[in-house]
Amino acid sequence: MASALDRLTPARVTHRAMVESDVGAISDLENLSYMFPWGAGIFRDCLRVGYTCRIVESPDGLGGYGIMSMGAGEAHILNICVRADLRGQNVGRRLMTWLLDEARRAGQSWVFLEVRPSNRPALLLYESLGFAQVGLRRGYYQAVGGREDAIVYRLDLDAWAAARERAANGVRPAR
Ligand SMILES: CC(C)(COP(=O)(O)OP(=O)(O)OC[C@H]1O[C@@H](n2cnc3c(N)ncnc32)[C@H](O)[C@@H]1OP(=O)(O)O)[C@@H](O)C(=O)NCCC(=O)NCCS
Repeated sequence: MASALDRLTPARVTHRAMVESDVGAISDLENLSYMFPWGAGIFRDCLRVGYTCRIVESPDGLGGYGIMSMGAGEAHILNICVRADLRGQNVGRRLMTWLLDEARRAGQSWVFLEVRPSNRPALLLYESLGFAQVGLRRGYYQAVGGREDAIVYRLDLDAWAAARERAANGVRPAR
């Protein structure tokens, strides 16, 4: 019998709006994924204030989630997470693309996010999408034995959409 990984291809991963009844499963995944997880109340608050809250659905249930706030031309990605057995299969990239498309449809120009310098998979994912470092917040995160800085990343949504279109048309970036 094929394993969950064998059976799941990115094409079978979909997304939908998060609802309050998802919060239990989301909290379980959050607790497994972060050393300093958000509590369930934060997810409920994000829903209550109308942030863009999306979940990834896989044939095996919750595959991940992403949360984004928007306003005044700027979107802020507050949390993205992919279930451990689905990582490295472009699910995070898809999730980011869904959020970025939504920000663009809503008329935002820029997307910001913070990330720990130690979170290499996340750094590489964001950089591969075109995010560039625009700042550093000293001691922003709780960390084992102290605090950890946050790198602040920013993406120009028009430039991201244009690059995606060029790639879809098979145009190579100018050298
Ligand atoms: C960060 C995270 C969302 C990435 O999700 P993912 O589904 O594994 O990422 P993808 O498979 O879409 O990878 C996209 C790109 O990210 C980079 N990447 C992802 N995982 C990587 C890893 N383990 N090592 C190196 N690069 C990695 C690569 O550039 C990759 O592109 P490539 O496959 O063409 O090389 C996932 O690791 C996660 O949920 N981590 C725990 C929660 C977390 O840290 N969230 C981010 C908080 S800022």
